[in-house]
Amino acid sequence: MNTSLQTRLFAAITAIGGYVPQNRRTNNDLEKVCDTSNEWIIKRTGIKERRILEEDLATSDMAVRAILNMVQAYNKDLQDIDALIVATSTPDMLMPATANIIAEKLGLKSVWAFDMNAACSGFLYALDMGASLIETKRYQNVLVVGADNISTYVNEQDRSTNILFGDGAGVVWLEASLEGGIMDAYLRSNGSGREFLNIEAGGSLYPLDKELMSSERRYLRQDGKAVFKQAVQSMSDACLHVLEKNNLTIDDVSWLVPHQANQRIIDAVGRSINIAEGKTLSNIEYLGNTIAATIPLCIWENIKRMKTGDLVMLTAFGAGFSWGASLLRWMA
Ligand code: ACO
Repeated sequence: MNTSLQTRLFAAITAIGGYVPQNRRTNNDLEKVCDTSNEWIIKRTGIKERRILEEDLATSDMAVRAILNMVQAYNKDLQDIDALIVATSTPDMLMPATANIIAEKLGLKSVWAFDMNAACSGFLYALDMGASLIETKRYQNVLVVGADNISTYVNEQDRSTNILFGDGAGVVWLEASLEGGIMDAYLRSNGSGREFLNIEAGGSLYPLDKELMSSERRYLRQDGKAVFKQAVQSMSDACLHVLEKNNLTIDDVSWLVPHQANQRIIDAVGRSINIAEGKTLSNIEYLGNTIAATIPLCIWENIKRMKTGDLVMLTAFGAGFSWGASLLRWMA
């Protein structure tokens, strides 16, 4: 077979949706529960507020709302979906997968649905998995969700984490295209990073008991400085790697959509890869770090700026450590 004559099939994003809870946690709210200040938080993180999900709701509820918003906005038929991948570190339950729960809530009785946990890199991991499913031609319509109810695992009084995180969900619809779509991705992980960023208790190693329920180990804990440094280095390296592999320069990129962890991290990555001013998208100011949801939410909120044919670079870093970059041609 002469492969040079074969036309490449891409997985393209043809629709996008998002959902964030109504309830806002502002910097002034945090000033009342710990020793911090609005000025410090804005200066060191760029964050003014985050959204917090109601206590009786869970990750699947935000994902379902994001999907329904997308379906309505783009006039899509849910019954066309044949695979649903959910990137989350905060599943509704340990089992079944949150993807199963979402499918059931949407009335999808026989969809292939599964979760993927790569923390803040989860959406990029799931996007590449979804793209691969389309490229095999065995699946025609794949949903990729990034959703996290991380506030459940943040100690409201801990100023080293409560300033950063919020809840949300984003989703994209993938379909085959001959014109363009996800062009390439570079995804990596290194488990030795787990000591710097984790939620230790609640798994099979440290099952939750009475003692752990009242300990710090049930919450997200991190070494902020180590994570900051590694995040800048890893996201920058991943972006440059993907550009070089595709014989592109940073000037070819229309938009950089980085994981939203800290505005100073976003700015440092932009400086490190030398992207022109105004091309880096950010919505951290009003949402904080929503873990696997930051990238789809950031695209969704900036959708009017994206033009068909734009070259978009996505990059993320998270617990694991896990990190990577994806390059895509915007087709929606
Ligand atoms: N309010 C007021 N003062 C504070 C606060 C706060 N919330 N936190 C720390 N300080 C103080 C410290 O005590 C210290 O005071 P000192 O100089 O008198 O000792 C000073 O401010 C500086 O503290 P640092 O810890 O050095 O602050 P830094 O600039 O590193 O900012 C932060 C901390 C915001 C956590 C930063 O390190 C960061 O964003 N790191 C990345 C974390 C991250 O992104 N995690 C998620 C990754 S993705 C995922 O998978 C979840």
